Amino acid sequence: MPTFSLVSLAAIYLAVTVVAAGSANHTPLESVTLPSEAFSALIPQKILATANTFNSPPSYPQYTDRVAGTWQWFTPDTWTTGFFPSTLYALHTRSQLCQRDAGKLKETDWLALGRMWSAAEVPSETHTGVGHDVGFLSFPFMDELNVEPKNSSAITAVNDFAKELAARFSPIVGCTRSWDAPDPTDFQVIIDNMMNLQVLFASADLTGNDTLRQIAISHARKTTINHLRPDGSSYHVVDYNSTTGKVFDQRTSQGYADNSTWSRGQAWGIYGFANMYKNTQLHEFLVTSRHMASYFLDHLPANGIVPWDFNAPLHPPRPADTSAAMIAASGLILLAQQELAQKPANASGADVYVKAAVDLIKTTTDLAWKPSWQSLLSNGTVNNPQLNNLTGIVYGDYYYIRAANDLVAMGLASC
Ligand SMILES: *[C@@H]1O[C@H](CO)[C@@H](O)[C@H](O)[C@H]1NC(C)=O
Ligand SMILES: *[C@@H]1O[C@H](CO)[C@@H](O)[C@H](O)[C@H]1NC(C)=O
Ligand SMILES: *[C@@H]1O[C@H](CO)[C@@H](O)[C@H](O)[C@H]1NC(C)=O
Ligand SMILES: *[C@@H]1O[C@H](CO)[C@@H](O)[C@H](O)[C@H]1NC(C)=O
Ligand SMILES: *[C@@H]1O[C@H](CO)[C@@H](O)[C@H](O)[C@H]1NC(C)=O
Ligand SMILES: *[C@@H]1O[C@H](CO)[C@@H](O)[C@H](O)[C@H]1NC(C)=O
Ligand SMILES: *[C@@H]1O[C@H](CO)[C@@H](O)[C@H](O)[C@H]1NC(C)=O
Repeated sequence: MPTFSLVSLAAIYLAVTVVAAGSANHTPLESVTLPSEAFSALIPQKILATANTFNSPPSYPQYTDRVAGTWQWFTPDTWTTGFFPSTLYALHTRSQLCQRDAGKLKETDWLALGRMWSAAEVPSETHTGVGHDVGFLSFPFMDELNVEPKNSSAITAVNDFAKELAARFSPIVGCTRSWDAPDPTDFQVIIDNMMNLQVLFASADLTGNDTLRQIAISHARKTTINHLRPDGSSYHVVDYNSTTGKVFDQRTSQGYADNSTWSRGQAWGIYGFANMYKNTQLHEFLVTSRHMASYFLDHLPANGIVPWDFNAPLHPPRPADTSAAMIAASGLILLAQQELAQKPANASGADVYVKAAVDLIKTTTDLAWKPSWQSLLSNGTVNNPQLNNLTGIVYGDYYYIRAANDLVAMGLASC
């Protein structure tokens, strides 16, 4: 019974928190107060309205225009396709976590909508132009397996996407290739790729194929060495020579400069390395996630608004990226869960990350909660060098919902 298992999940988190409090001289994590918008009736209302928009041939929302906040639609073979179906699964989770009804939260069959919206992704399993982003495309299928572990089409999807990502692994480089370049010896890896590794663990769990886990571990280790700077900041892109395995460039694509730190990349890293630790229990990945989190939090400006790049000049005013803020909030919550899972639990570390996540949610809500737009949030920056800033973004909205759900599931916030 999904309702029962989610309630037990919340109870387990509560138990972990209580045990953490009792086992050492740690204070229990204090409950937090999220802005009321985080559980607003507008969330299910807007998402249902978008879900009821059926386009033929199928297309998926990615970002809005800058003025009216109207969704722009993209073909299924786009790296962001999985986020809208996963948002529907996140509302399915929310409808079970929250006692209180808000708008159409309780009366909507979010699971049926999530399943329907995943279906158009299926042709991408064997023919996709998204390269390493098969990991992002697989999100709703991994969501489905959390609900129905025996769903065979979701199992097939996860295994197929994992196989595609594994086929992009080079033993010489030690990474999976992110972007294809005209020169095949130019082997490009982007920090975002850390988010795609989960599909390898999901498939390894389904098939018992340990090679997939080893590929993820190798990729993450190389990324720690070559994407991170000593202060915990990150390069967006590293170019390896596929013949020699040597690094020949460390640079940016979507950031301000080669030596700057693009905030969304930094956020993917916090989340991706916390997730590596969760899957492997290898301490090195916990250390890397903490290091990236410290850089992110130490470089927030006084007003707490996450800029699109931490090193972008202040004049003219630099656009925010609320998607980076919400990915970081979700990543910090995942990191806090790993701190709580330490023996003994690191409650003080977890507390710092939970509070920082809540601050990001508050600041983002104050800046960017946008009732009149189709998206939940404004002030996302898709790609500033391509002049695409100040929009709603599907993955910003997704992580806004997820972060609030996760805090409820941990027993720290209420709907
Ligand atoms: C199984 O999962 C797929 C994809 O996630 C979905 O489209 C389908 O409706 C699900 N099947 C059942 C029987 O729930
Ligand atoms: C495990 O996965 C790798 C990568 O996709 C593949 O090459 C290998 O054949 C798989 N092993 C088995 C036993 O299926
Ligand atoms: C990679 O190294 C090979 C062998 O040294 C060389 O021929 C090739 O030009 C290099 N590729 C790049 C992109 O630097
Ligand atoms: C990046 O390099 C430029 C030019 O060398 C330098 O002025 C700037 O301070 C550097 N920025 C960072 C964040 O290291
Ligand atoms: C947020 O977006 C609004 C327009 O939607 C813009 O006027 C404002 O400058 C933006 N603020 C930041 C910090 O990006
Ligand atoms: C607890 O977490 C904090 C923040 O990540 C970290 O600095 C500290 O070393 C951790 N303490 C232990 C005992 O692991
Ligand atoms: C944001 O995008 C607009 C065009 O859409 C561009 O004119 C502007 O320079 C960008 N803002 C910054 C500070 O880069």
